[in-house]
Amino acid sequence: MSSSTPVPSQTEEANHPEHRPIRTFHARRSRIRPSAKSAIDRLWDRWGVDIDDNFDFVRSLRTDHDVVLEIGCGMGDATVAMARAEPNTTILAVDVHTPGLGVILRDCERDGVSNVRVACCDAVTLIRDHIPDGSLAGIRIYFPDPWPKQRQHKRRLIQPEFVSLASSKLRSSGTLHLATDWQNYADQMLEVLSDEPTLHNTSEGFTARPQWRPVTRFESRGLRLGHTINDLLFTKV
Ligand SMILES: C[S@@+](CC[C@H](N)C(=O)[O-])C[C@H]1O[C@@H](n2cnc3c(N)ncnc32)[C@H](O)[C@@H]1O
Repeated sequence: MSSSTPVPSQTEEANHPEHRPIRTFHARRSRIRPSAKSAIDRLWDRWGVDIDDNFDFVRSLRTDHDVVLEIGCGMGDATVAMARAEPNTTILAVDVHTPGLGVILRDCERDGVSNVRVACCDAVTLIRDHIPDGSLAGIRIYFPDPWPKQRQHKRRLIQPEFVSLASSKLRSSGTLHLATDWQNYADQMLEVLSDEPTLHNTSEGFTARPQWRPVTRFESRGLRLGHTINDLLFTKV
């Protein structure tokens, strides 16, 4: 993303009807704080990744570390904390909205964290078209948009086709870690992941939040509303 690129452009691209017929995300023009905008302008060339025809998983990420993909990083509360705690892992944080990516870049610079890469794109397209099979050590999806109304359920990210595709990108023993505060989405996740033959549940059903998983912004909101948090931790067979 060059500094002259208008911030919402990648969101508009991701929203294009031919790009993905069913969107898993809300179209919005989020306000971006000046410090986050400035971080994007200054740091995108160092830690930002453009997902286009020139993207090459190994060359573009510029890392020898294991790579974990975080889908829907939002404002990045978990991203920077995980990267700090796992210096030998590179977290590729993806969202369709840029304000959070700017916050991540700003906080990485402030904290001297260099093992984060950020990309602004639809993760479905990223996984389908740009991530080689068997290349990821993990995929983390924390509090994906719940699309609570029955008629919106088709927009939920966690569907059999997506989970099968995501699993194909994990290396052997790689992990797929999900969390949600919506009970009926949690039940759907458990059913879909349990039915995927290339995945193995590390627990009987749901699992408690591993201590290393930071509490996220949406999780805090769910907790304030009295929702139960469910984590799911599966490994690639
Ligand atoms: C409910 S928020 C959760 C954010 C954060 N993980 C948290 O727990 O605070 C879901 C995020 O997923 C992003 N998202 C939804 N679908 C996506 C997709 N297909 N690709 C990339 N990001 C997506 C949304 O833009 C939003 O920022």
